[in-house]
Amino acid sequence: MFVKKIFIAVTGASGTLYARRFFQHLPYDDWEVHVCVSASARVVASHEGGLNLPPHVKEWDEKDLTAPVASGSNKFEAMVVVPCSTATLGKLAHGIADNLITRAGEVFLKERRKLILVQRETPLSLIQIKNMELLTLAGAHLIPANPSFYGQPKTIEDLADTVIARVYDHAGIQAEVAKRWRAEEISKIPNEK
Ligand SMILES: Cc1cc2nc3c(=O)[nH]c(=O)nc-3n(C[C@H](O)[C@H](O)[C@H](O)COP(=O)(O)O)c2cc1C
Repeated sequence: MFVKKIFIAVTGASGTLYARRFFQHLPYDDWEVHVCVSASARVVASHEGGLNLPPHVKEWDEKDLTAPVASGSNKFEAMVVVPCSTATLGKLAHGIADNLITRAGEVFLKERRKLILVQRETPLSLIQIKNMELLTLAGAHLIPANPSFYGQPKTIEDLADTVIARVYDHAGIQAEVAKRWRAEEISKIPNEK
């Protein structure tokens, strides 16, 4: 069976919970999962309950630019940066490919592949807004870590899942992780991107 490849980068923005929930719901039978966790993400995770990557992922060091995802010759379906720091976002916007995460992002943009950034910062400076504009123009999907409340989430995990649900839809990952708005009133055909 053809298994799609996805690259997940965890960077040093607050929101380790988003990364944990992302890994928790992934349908691993359908995806070969490559992961890179930045040094700053490890620091943040140590303050936010830890990351605990699942055993069936291939983890790459941030400094390892020999990883398969660093070359456009290897086909990956999607790259997700969750959570995405403004530092990594800024580097991606300006082509600063100085570690595996920023190099992979550069590759995804040049190959016109799906690059999804779950950025977390508030408030935003004009520089950050301009960087987000540049990345949007270059084809990246910006999905800020802004949860929604209309599904009446009961736990903090449910709340985080409202963001992960949007990320999964954009990445083409089939998993129902949060309630869709008035979903019972529309046809049951899955929302394919
Ligand atoms: C506890 C903690 C929380 C942080 N939260 C954020 C954040 O929400 N957003 C952000 O852009 N940076 C945040 N930072 C700063 C980044 O970790 C820092 O800019 C770092 O250089 C990002 O590196 P990376 O993009 O290589 O992971 C935080 C740092 C710490 C220690």
